[in-house]
Amino acid sequence: MKVSLIMTMTVDGFIARDSGTDAELVSAYAPLFFEDTTQLIGTVIVGSNTFSLLKEPFPGRLTIVMSSVPQPERNISGIVEFHSGELKDLLAELETRGLHEVAVVGGSQLNASFLVDNLIDELYVIVAPRLFGQGISLASNYDLETELRLLEERQLGSDAVLLHYEVVK
Ligand SMILES: NC(=O)c1ccc[n+]([C@@H]2O[C@H](COP(=O)([O-])OP(=O)(O)OC[C@H]3O[C@@H](n4cnc5c(N)ncnc54)[C@H](OP(=O)(O)O)[C@@H]3O)[C@@H](O)[C@H]2O)c1
Repeated sequence: MKVSLIMTMTVDGFIARDSGTDAELVSAYAPLFFEDTTQLIGTVIVGSNTFSLLKEPFPGRLTIVMSSVPQPERNISGIVEFHSGELKDLLAELETRGLHEVAVVGGSQLNASFLVDNLIDELYVIVAPRLFGQGISLASNYDLETELRLLEERQLGSDAVLLHYEVVK
């Protein structure tokens, strides 16, 4: 299973102003990379806070919502599925369903839980030409020792930059 983390971040390193504000960066810059890439991958995993802000699953992609609270009654099979428990068990289950690639798409707590378990293979950061001054980081609530190797960098649109890394394992 290939697991890619895809995040849009300000130049000063924030993915949002706080956990209750919607993903203004994603909506502003999605057409440049996020939309096409997640459509190709086909399956996205989000944290429950981010899903509460989105309200709807990502159209055309299986949306998996991670929560510590089991909520099977909210599942619409193949469209939006709620999972709790170990991330590695989720990935193994998806493999048995013939899925070989997923995109982890935030927020900060979900990203960190994948990173601390060393489950991310590649990281795509879309650096948006914005400064927030304060906010929430790409991964929070854990001490990480993640080392990255740059695979690609390129300009997106007029002012954004894509940084593509692999996680050194
Ligand atoms: N810039 C971007 O690209 C981008 C992308 C996405 C989101 N965001 C922003 O990120 C912010 C939200 O981030 P956040 O860190 O507050 O919340 P989050 O990561 O979206 O959600 C956190 C919640 O997800 C569940 N969760 C996370 N990891 C889990 C795991 N390993 N197992 C089980 N459940 C898990 C827990 O839900 P329960 O409490 O239900 O147990 C946890 O409280 C928003 O402001 C959003 O706009 C930005």
